[in-house]
Amino acid sequence: MQRALVDGSRAHRTPILPVIGKDLTVERGGRHILKAIDIEVGGTGTLVLIGPNGAGKSLLVRVLAGLVRPSRGEVTWAGRPPDRQRAPKVGFVFQRPVLLRRSALANVEYALAVAGFARSERADRASAALTRARLSHLAQTPARVLSGGEQQLLSIVRALATEPEILILDEPTSNLDPAATAAIEHLVNAVRAEGTRVVLITHDLGQARRLGDEVAFLHRGRLMELSPRDAFLAQPASAEARAFLRGEIVL
Ligand SMILES: Nc1ncnc2c1ncn2[C@@H]1O[C@H](COP(=O)(O)OP(=O)(O)OP(=O)(O)O)[C@@H](O)[C@H]1O
Ligand SMILES: [Mg+2]
Repeated sequence: MQRALVDGSRAHRTPILPVIGKDLTVERGGRHILKAIDIEVGGTGTLVLIGPNGAGKSLLVRVLAGLVRPSRGEVTWAGRPPDRQRAPKVGFVFQRPVLLRRSALANVEYALAVAGFARSERADRASAALTRARLSHLAQTPARVLSGGEQQLLSIVRALATEPEILILDEPTSNLDPAATAAIEHLVNAVRAEGTRVVLITHDLGQARRLGDEVAFLHRGRLMELSPRDAFLAQPASAEARAFLRGEIVL
């Protein structure tokens, strides 16, 4: 008997929250890039992840998303190790958008196909997702000719089309103008309001203030702190975070 395709609607019923990392350590070439990180991402709201360049932010979210295996420690999604079946429940938007050489709509349809959605559903779902981000007028445009802001929005639409439980965004608005940034922040807030858990990496402290319910600060591979936004911004726990907020170079 032929094995049934993964049915998107069935995947919808298998939860992945909370995403928990225990003792996460990543070692490369003898260097510890992530150091014994314990983190729990459950509930709702937006967790903003900040920290200096090279602190390990991108790597940490890749590990939590099941894209990189830690050298030590473990990640669980709702109590079990990450698995391919549930991968579409993690929406992931990379620091540099990687779009396929085809139309904007086809990029979203492809993501739905990979996630196991039936062919008959894909076009409607993809169109609805584009409309939501006010991108429907660009549906037939080759993704690679879209502007930087449009490409970034499309990457988010693609990640959202599979209705993830958690949306991870790695610096989604770096290099974007204020209007494109506002469009993305608006979309992120709408998604959050629907109950999707959001994890967002940013170097923009104004954005952390606008979007974050909680703020986590990473420094040299260590998770120094994870606090409610107002508490963090008013009085971060570590000297490194205080210096970071003051705009000093933190090495
Ligand atoms: N696969 C790898 N092999 C070797 N080193 C790596 C690997 N992945 C990441 N690194 C190193 O780990 C460190 C953390 O990288 P990461 O991309 O997570 O930083 P980041 O906090 O996202 O920085 P930025 O703000 O510049 O994006 C960097 O010094 C990077 O060079
Ligand atoms: Mg990064």
